[in-house]
Amino acid sequence: MIDPCSATRLPAELPSDPMRWAKAWLDEAVSKQVQRNPNSMTAITVGDGGQPAGRVVLCKDFVADPGYLVFYTNYKSDKVQHLENNQNIALLFHWDVFGRQVRMEGEAVHSPAEESDAYFASRDWGSQIGAWGSDQSAPLESRAALISQVGKRAMKLGVQAAKNLTSIAVEDRPVIARPPHWGGIRVWPRRIELWIEGGDRIHDRARWERSLSRREHDLFDVGGWSGTRLQP
Ligand SMILES: Cc1cc2nc3c(=O)[nH]c(=O)nc-3n(C[C@H](O)[C@H](O)[C@H](O)COP(=O)(O)O)c2cc1C
Repeated sequence: MIDPCSATRLPAELPSDPMRWAKAWLDEAVSKQVQRNPNSMTAITVGDGGQPAGRVVLCKDFVADPGYLVFYTNYKSDKVQHLENNQNIALLFHWDVFGRQVRMEGEAVHSPAEESDAYFASRDWGSQIGAWGSDQSAPLESRAALISQVGKRAMKLGVQAAKNLTSIAVEDRPVIARPPHWGGIRVWPRRIELWIEGGDRIHDRARWERSLSRREHDLFDVGGWSGTRLQP
């Protein structure tokens, strides 16, 4: 089996497992810490009137088989409101240092609640409070209003002296439950493109497609990948 991280070109016979390739590239970027957030990806949703909107999120899980990715966010945010009306989503990774790009297009669903609970519990305590503190994407009067809102909500969660969270001793920190409006988004790609930079702009590029049909809320039946090489 060809190692995706040592390949400088896509093999003449296109691999049948492009998600494994993408995951190997992501894992390499993370293990070598090639940038501050090597797992960052741009997520593009479609809002009212067909207007696309992109923003960076962090890929927190990548399951190559059967093939989905997970990011975490506020379910009341603009991006998730877009997904309520149109579950189509595009994801984009770019690791400049490796000359690699991965593009994906597919459908987004909420992660199972238990999975979001487990991830939330693994986050650092300050970030757990932050998830309660911010109504992501809602308008805000001022930075001071936000700090005051976070403080008040922290107190409601049982936190004392909420102004300086890091100064609170670990044994004095109340357990913070996951907010119901915060959790994972699973993205199931139906299309993936791998791109490797080439000299003189003669890059290497191929796109794979598969069938995707929803079986249960968060589970899809997927077909095999079929690849096509593309001109750069
Ligand atoms: C490096 C980086 C990582 C980010 N990671 C996340 C993330 O994992 N989840 C998230 O909701 N927002 C994340 N953000 C903030 C988003 O880019 C965005 O500002 C926020 O989610 C609101 O987007 P929306 O109003 O379109 O929903 C990140 C931003 C940057 C620059």
